[in-house]
Amino acid sequence: MQTRVFRLALLLSLIYLVSGSTAEAQSANTQKLYRGHPVRSQLTNPATEKKIDALLAKMTLEEKVGQLVQYSSGAPTGPSAGHTEYQSWVAKGEVGSLFNLDNAHAANEYQHLAVEKSRLHIPLLFGLDVIHGYRTVVPVPLGLASTWDPVVVERAARIAAREASAGGIRWTFSPMVDIARDARWGRMIEGAGEDPYLGSVMARAYVRGYQGKSLSLADSIAACPKHFVGYGAAEGGRDYNTTEISEHTLREVYFPPFYAALDEGSASIMSAFNSLNGVPASANSFTLTQVLRNEWKFQGMVGSDWTSVGELVPHGIANDAAAAARKALTAGVDMDMESNFYHPNVAQLVRSGKIRPEQLNEAVRRVLRVKYALGLFENPYTDEARENRSALPAESLEVARLAAERSLVLLKNDAADGRPVLPLANDVKIVALIGPLADDAGNMLGSWAGRGRAEDVVTLKTSLQQRLGADRLKFANGGEIDAQIEEAVRAAQSADVAILALGENAGEMTAEAASRAHLVLPGRQQELLEKVSATGKPVILLLFSGRPLTLPGAFEHVPAVIAAWFPGVQAGPALARVLFGDAAPSGRLVVSWPRAVGQLPLYYNALPTGRPAGSIDLTRPPKDSLEKFVSRYVDEQNSPQFPFGFGLTYTSVTYSKPDTSTAKLNAKQLNEVMRSSNAASANPTMTASATVTNTGKVSADEVVQLYIGLRGTSIEEPVRKLAGFQRVRLAPGEAKRVEFTLSSETFSIWDIQNELTVEPSAVRLWISPDSSRGEPAELTITE
Ligand code: NOJ
Repeated sequence: MQTRVFRLALLLSLIYLVSGSTAEAQSANTQKLYRGHPVRSQLTNPATEKKIDALLAKMTLEEKVGQLVQYSSGAPTGPSAGHTEYQSWVAKGEVGSLFNLDNAHAANEYQHLAVEKSRLHIPLLFGLDVIHGYRTVVPVPLGLASTWDPVVVERAARIAAREASAGGIRWTFSPMVDIARDARWGRMIEGAGEDPYLGSVMARAYVRGYQGKSLSLADSIAACPKHFVGYGAAEGGRDYNTTEISEHTLREVYFPPFYAALDEGSASIMSAFNSLNGVPASANSFTLTQVLRNEWKFQGMVGSDWTSVGELVPHGIANDAAAAARKALTAGVDMDMESNFYHPNVAQLVRSGKIRPEQLNEAVRRVLRVKYALGLFENPYTDEARENRSALPAESLEVARLAAERSLVLLKNDAADGRPVLPLANDVKIVALIGPLADDAGNMLGSWAGRGRAEDVVTLKTSLQQRLGADRLKFANGGEIDAQIEEAVRAAQSADVAILALGENAGEMTAEAASRAHLVLPGRQQELLEKVSATGKPVILLLFSGRPLTLPGAFEHVPAVIAAWFPGVQAGPALARVLFGDAAPSGRLVVSWPRAVGQLPLYYNALPTGRPAGSIDLTRPPKDSLEKFVSRYVDEQNSPQFPFGFGLTYTSVTYSKPDTSTAKLNAKQLNEVMRSSNAASANPTMTASATVTNTGKVSADEVVQLYIGLRGTSIEEPVRKLAGFQRVRLAPGEAKRVEFTLSSETFSIWDIQNELTVEPSAVRLWISPDSSRGEPAELTITE
């Protein structure tokens, strides 16, 4: 049975990949892992280990330490700034990795030094932050995740790998798989949002795309899930801040996407900046050794984040560089990015017995494993002819456009003059396009543009001009001075509809070191929005941002709103196609959209409280003690503005109540199946299905979501949590039966002893369009 299901899944995924279509696919199973169950790994084999043994036997202490040293070549800042000795260090075998190089030629030059001048000819590993594209910049990761389409994410990552490797890069510091529950944290933009299941599916997709069929192929790059671990839980949403996360929550929420990425074969992982329960993540032996090495049996390399080894001093657990280096290395950080703490200290620490020689050897072995797996010993150089110096190929643009199109989340689409504002009619007479982001190529590239170029970007203004002709498009930038705002208002007055392109400045307000306490539109954009709305013309707000923004007024008064994130090089074509209905919107939120900053952190898969607000009307202050002494705010609702999983489209879709293939499961049996199984395969135990019907007039992709909730368990479980999803194309009037296969792992939880187990419980199961709707089916897990 199991093999048949597996074969079927394989066949489906093949059809899916070949057709390039993302409808109809069931999301990959992301099984959990109980203690001691190793991740799959492509990194060890006896022949390579032998080669590494032989190499280690020849290496001096300094050469060993060298493999653990990583510098940002040409870094303008940081501790290695001012160093000009890279060349001589590389030639002496004292550097293992360089990053931030500009092109294949530069990489080859350093590689010649390493391979030809250094005594043991060990190649360098070149890294870069290739986060959402190298030159073909696709939507920011939060947008990519909003596609709920792992196939398109994998295809985008494959293109990034091809381009980056042609530029000499064989290691990317991606995917960022930090769970983010707090929109104040600027780095929410870099990840897949708040859900561990979706985050795991996306993590796997990136790794498959980057690492390709085999790491050893010239166009594969090693992945590096980051930042291990808990970084997204920074208190107050303030970057680099402390985190406190229980072991249970680490295992249920924060670990799974990392596990998924490593299980998919990721060659490396990055340790984080933050302190976790009082121990900095880059010196945390619980996470780096106990979990990563002893439980997951990860064989690859752990790199530090930028100066995160050095930061053990300000964290207060090391009083000097030597102590910091010792703590990081012995906890399990193999490579020191930019601290310049391993380079001058580790050899002496080994000589003085403070680091055991085996510990050093083990770290070096992990680095060498990655270099062998990448085939760098056989093929250290990059063919410089592969680097694309001309326009982006059509195939890459197609993926970038598809990803951008599917990342757009339609949040609101009210009627104006009797019909929904969107899609726009092709014969619309005059369109006013207003706002600073309508023609801003740089911002469309988002937060980590790799080697993206503004000249590759097609902006919305360009696309609309092509579609409508210059006469039918009135453009006004808006801006910060009265005259510009007045000009924008006049443009709206003279048009039939106004499209407002507003939002954050990607460079200043999103990603690293860009936490915000006020999630509002910057500058005078709010005023611009209000004044344009006051013209009475139908307004479509396109919100470009790296996080949800709290704009309750806008959501109340503006008839149509699209969350556009930062869509990448094909921003314009994707937006235009969706605005005019060539493609129906199909993105869904991967973060709960807050009404107010005071609600943060906010996430749908929250634990129940002892005083749930239940059916109390939270839109007004409590009127008596029954309404007051519950878990609520007296001045705001508990619910988000828009829930996780939410997104509208141009048709309406109904869901039947789910049916399940059984009403009873048995905990003992499920545990046996789960424990005896191979971690690489999930164990189908039952199916759940619902009929999903397109009741409208246009076809659309529906993201059908499966949620479960368990009650009566040894430890509290979220009211509801995502357990599967499928993207299904529905023609007008079409009804489809959507079926999910659930495995024992689906029902497993990390119990009160922090063991993965299936417990007797009452189960509710929803198949629904988002995390807040649907009528559950009920079943029981008996003892
Ligand atoms: C610091 C960031 O935290 C990390 O995500 C990035 O990969 C490194 N810098 C390298 O640029």
